[in-house]
Amino acid sequence: MNQSFSKALSSLVMAAGLSLALVSGSSFAERAPMAPLPSPSGVDFPLSVPANPNSLANGTQAQSQPANPSIFTTANSDPYNFVSIPDKEASVLIQRSGEQWRVIRNGIITVYGGWLMALAFFGIVAMYIVKGPIKLHEPMSGNLIKRFSFLERLTHWVMAYSFIGLALTGLLILYGKYFAMPLMGGVAYGSFLMVCKNIHNFSGPLFTLSIIIFFLLLVRKNIPGEGDMAWLMSFGGILSGKHVPAGFFNFGEKIWFWFGMTFLGLVISSSGFVLDMIVPFMEVQYIRGTMQIANIVHSSASILMTTMAMGHIYIGSIGMQGSLDGMRTGSVDATWAKEHHELWYNKVNK
Ligand code: HEM
Repeated sequence: MNQSFSKALSSLVMAAGLSLALVSGSSFAERAPMAPLPSPSGVDFPLSVPANPNSLANGTQAQSQPANPSIFTTANSDPYNFVSIPDKEASVLIQRSGEQWRVIRNGIITVYGGWLMALAFFGIVAMYIVKGPIKLHEPMSGNLIKRFSFLERLTHWVMAYSFIGLALTGLLILYGKYFAMPLMGGVAYGSFLMVCKNIHNFSGPLFTLSIIIFFLLLVRKNIPGEGDMAWLMSFGGILSGKHVPAGFFNFGEKIWFWFGMTFLGLVISSSGFVLDMIVPFMEVQYIRGTMQIANIVHSSASILMTTMAMGHIYIGSIGMQGSLDGMRTGSVDATWAKEHHELWYNKVNK
């Protein structure tokens, strides 16, 4: 791999890490007591926002914000008030579970998701600093073995770049208000987020399509088989320190293929289609409750996939000597093939 690429990648990784740390830390701001913002009308009410947002779920917001018109306080109190308009959406005066959704999204998902991504990121950085990249034991032979076709590489990179676009814009949608909005100001941030949302909405279907094509292209090579049990037992040789012979893909890659790309990819795609209101072949009621559930499923699965993708991107680039060659050029060096996919190497050389 050429040096300038690895330098650029390291700086990118560093920048992403700092942003993640900022994001996970600043998401705690949501939980901290907040000084009331000045009212845009110039008339300030004695507002106070409770320190614990969980209490908002109990409808206490109305009590702690005397500025709320009393009509909402009354409608939100027990016994449960209702409107008799037949339209399910139009008859919702106050959707109480909306408050629970807000607490889950802005509390549990942003805080714990932020920590998960930050931990994974710093774990990878620590591994890179302490152990360094996995190096080949023998020098490169110069003999190349064909590994991926042009279509496989094209699909992989469409999937990778659309994923990166989705992850960056998605994280801005989730966390941007904590660090970008104070820097940019509300109006500029609003327009910026609109651009992010459009990039996100249009890259989504491309990502889904590339997952489906990549799945069809590589599913046969990801069927569990020889060498997988041994790989799993020794966790790829990390625990034993011994080399574990693997087939075309090792078991770690197969987990990434089945769980990371296929399962999480499809969960993210289907919930994203609901949020975009473009689910084909099905009658979906795009009401608030459905959107809130889709939003929670979408963001949780995306955070999990981003966490796993960090490990994949690291090992597929600066984390392992020679690993990027197959996806970049289509061929790998025979020494790399023998050291990392010995069962496949033996089959090719039979
Ligand atoms: C810049 C980002 C990425 C880099 C540098 C990268 C690198 C690589 C490399 C080098 C391989 C080939 C590994 C081998 O020869 O055994 C590979 C395979 C693969 N990549 Fe990526 N990748 C990236 C992003 C992604 C993303 C975002 C996804 C999923 C959404 C993804 C999914 C896969 C899958 C499923 C495989 C095949 C593994 C298998 O089928 O078992 N990659 N990647």
